[in-house]
Amino acid sequence: MKLLVVGIAGQVGDTLALQAIDAGHEVVGTYRQREPTVPGVETFPLDKTDAAQVRQLMHEQRPQVVVDTSALHNVDYCESHSEEAFKVNRDGTRFLAEEARAAHARFAFISTDFVFDGSGAPPYTEAAEIHPQSEYARSKAEGEHAALAPNPEHNLVVRPSVIYSWWGPRHQSASSSGKGVNFGTWLVEEVRQGREVRIIDDLVTSPTLASDLAGAILALLDHHAHGIYHTAGATAVDRYHFSKALVERLGLDAGKVRAVHAAEFAQKAPRPSNSSLDSSQLARDTGYRMLELPAALDRFAQSRDEDLQA
Ligand SMILES: NC(=O)c1ccc[n+]([C@@H]2O[C@H](COP(=O)([O-])OP(=O)(O)OC[C@H]3O[C@@H](n4cnc5c(N)ncnc54)[C@H](OP(=O)(O)O)[C@@H]3O)[C@@H](O)[C@H]2O)c1
Repeated sequence: MKLLVVGIAGQVGDTLALQAIDAGHEVVGTYRQREPTVPGVETFPLDKTDAAQVRQLMHEQRPQVVVDTSALHNVDYCESHSEEAFKVNRDGTRFLAEEARAAHARFAFISTDFVFDGSGAPPYTEAAEIHPQSEYARSKAEGEHAALAPNPEHNLVVRPSVIYSWWGPRHQSASSSGKGVNFGTWLVEEVRQGREVRIIDDLVTSPTLASDLAGAILALLDHHAHGIYHTAGATAVDRYHFSKALVERLGLDAGKVRAVHAAEFAQKAPRPSNSSLDSSQLARDTGYRMLELPAALDRFAQSRDEDLQA
């Protein structure tokens, strides 16, 4: 199938494009600010908040599937720039979904575990009611609706949790997503350079390896799945214990990772205390199982080793 990856220079876009090519799909991509680095893929500049640009690209490229990995997702920035967050995460998503529909393409959108508020009984299934707490989370929740509404029998929303991957030197330029280097790579580099890091120990998530998420998206697309699916790492863990496990797996000094409570960080936007996700529906419908933490850390270590040896 011909896949158009929106945000191909990003962490998930880049990984998804590489895996889709390996699986034999034709891939084209879009970027906004950061030069894409996926070898052999034709790419086009696109700001998804510009409806005319979206229409023209869809008309010219005629993809069969559009995967929107793009977002404004610096959670604290979004809290004080609500209009911008909704413009990108809701309105831009709607333009893409509507134009995908007009081009007879399926559309997939990447949402977030932050649509939940931590109450009830996590890990959350897809049946759980959402209660987004921050402007970012609200803009993504409305983005979910914008993604599904034009073509509910064919379009897909996936919800990962905090996404990490080894992000080597080929990826170090600034992005319009509001995010710098991803959490895993930042952590490893800080500790490797001997710096102490303070990591919150009272927020539980389901850390999601980018390549595992990409595998889940491709499995869902292969199965023509539609609607909402949770696609998060299989282990629920707080950030501090996750960070220690990652650093230890790489043979670095776990003593550099210090625990702090969320209340000690002056974060603008509220975060759920537990936004862990249950991804068993994905396994039931496609046979694809999200990785438990030890296996995911092995895969992270392997990609870092390969990158350092290259
Ligand atoms: N990272 C996480 O921990 C996490 C957790 C849960 C959910 N998510 C969701 O997962 C998705 C992928 O995250 P990621 O980590 O891959 O993000 P990322 O590396 O920051 O990539 C996001 C991409 O969005 C593009 N972008 C931003 N604004 C755009 C616009 N107006 N038009 C077109 N493209 C635009 C950026 O393009 P340029 O780089 O070219 O500027 C960037 O490459 C996002 O939807 C995010 O909300 C992320």
